[in-house]
Amino acid sequence: MKNYPEILDAFALPEGERTAVPFGNGHINSTFMVRISGTEKQYILQRINSYVFIHPKDVMENIQRVTGFLRGKIAEAGGNPDRETITLVPSRTGEACAEDAEGQVWRVMLFVPDTFSPELPDNLDILEECGGAFGRFARLLDDFPASSLHETIHAFHDTPARLSQLEDAARQDPCGRLKDVQEEMAFARGCAAETRVLTDALAAGKLPLRVTHNDTKVNNVLLDRNTEKAVCVIDLDTVMPGLLAYDFGDAIRVGACSAAEDEQNLDLIHLEMPKYRAFARGFLSQLKGMLSRDELLSLEAGARIMTLENGLRFLADHLKGDVYFKIHRPGQNLDRARAQFALFRDMEKHSEEMKAILLELYEG
Ligand SMILES: Nc1ncnc2c1ncn2[C@@H]1O[C@H](COP(=O)(O)OP(=O)(O)O)[C@@H](O)[C@H]1O
Ligand SMILES: [Mg+2]
Repeated sequence: MKNYPEILDAFALPEGERTAVPFGNGHINSTFMVRISGTEKQYILQRINSYVFIHPKDVMENIQRVTGFLRGKIAEAGGNPDRETITLVPSRTGEACAEDAEGQVWRVMLFVPDTFSPELPDNLDILEECGGAFGRFARLLDDFPASSLHETIHAFHDTPARLSQLEDAARQDPCGRLKDVQEEMAFARGCAAETRVLTDALAAGKLPLRVTHNDTKVNNVLLDRNTEKAVCVIDLDTVMPGLLAYDFGDAIRVGACSAAEDEQNLDLIHLEMPKYRAFARGFLSQLKGMLSRDELLSLEAGARIMTLENGLRFLADHLKGDVYFKIHRPGQNLDRARAQFALFRDMEKHSEEMKAILLELYEG
C-alpha cells in the first residue's frame, strides 16, 4: 500500500520511496511534509482550499510570478533563493500545480529546513523579526507591477463594501439576530467615514498600489531554529495588488492585541504598544527611503481600519448564521465583532502615539 497521496506522482520529484505526513498548524490548506528515500531534500505538499480560493490556478500564477521575481532579487543580493522564498516544484508537465481526479488542486514546494513558524509571540525580538520579514517582502517587490496580479479574492479589503455587506445581512436578518445587536450596528454605521479612508486615498492616487501578502500573521514567517532570525515569508495564497497599510495593519491587529480574538471581557482588550513598536521597528527598518509621508502614516490608519473591517465581517457573519467563520460556541462571532470594535476604539485613543512611533522609527 502506498503511504502518500497519489497526486505526488504528478510532480517532477526525484525517484525513491515516498512518505507524506500531515504537517504544521495551517487553518486554510491541507499541508503534508514529504520525504523521499535517497535524497536529503524534503518537500511540502499542499492541497489548496477550493472553498476559499475559487480560482486556484490564478492563485498559483500569482505565486509563480512573485516568487520568480523574489528569487532574482534575493540572488542579486547574494542570498539563497531556495531558503529565502518559496520554491515551487513543477508538475511533470511543467505546471505550477496539478489536479487530482476530484478536481482538487495541489502543489509541491521545497521544505525550508531548520526553521519554525512562531505562534503569537510575547517575545518582542521575534515580533520585530516578523515585522522585518514582511517589510523585506514589500521592499523586494517594490518595483513589481502589482496591478498585473490576479485579484484572487475580489474586494478583499474594500472596507466600505464590507459595511454594505453588513447592511445587507441586517436587512435580510435570516436568523432574527438583528434585534440583539442594535448597539453594534449603530457603532458600525457611525464608522462609515472611517471605512473610506484608505480606499479614497488609493482612488485619489495618494497611496501606491503594491504587491501585498494579505495574511501577515507571524505564523506565516519562518525563523531560523538556531538564531531565531527571519528566513522567509510563506503562505503566498493571498498575494494580490493592495496597500502596504493592509499588511502592516492586519499584522498589528492580530500580533499586538492584548487578548484573544473572541475575548468577552472587553476591559482586557487593548493595543499593546511595545508589541506595536517592535513589529513596526522591524517592518520600517526594511523600508527606509521607500515611503512617502502619506504612505508611512497610512500604516496607522491600516491598523485601525483592518480591525474595524474584521469587526464588520464578524458581525455580518453572526447575522447570517455563522456561514463563513467557524464557531465553537454560540455567539462567538458576535464576541469576535465586539472584541474587534473594542480594539479599534483603543487604537483610536492611541492614534497620535502610533503615528509618532512610525515617524520616529522611519525618520529617526
Ligand atoms: N516551504 C515550507 N518550509 C517549511 N515549512 C513550511 C513550508 N510551507 C509551509 N510550512 C509549514 O506549514 C504550515 C502551514 O502552511 P501555510 O502555507 O501557512 O498554510 P495555511 O494557509 O494552511 O496556513 C506553516 O505554518 C509552516 O509551519
Ligand atoms: Mg499559514
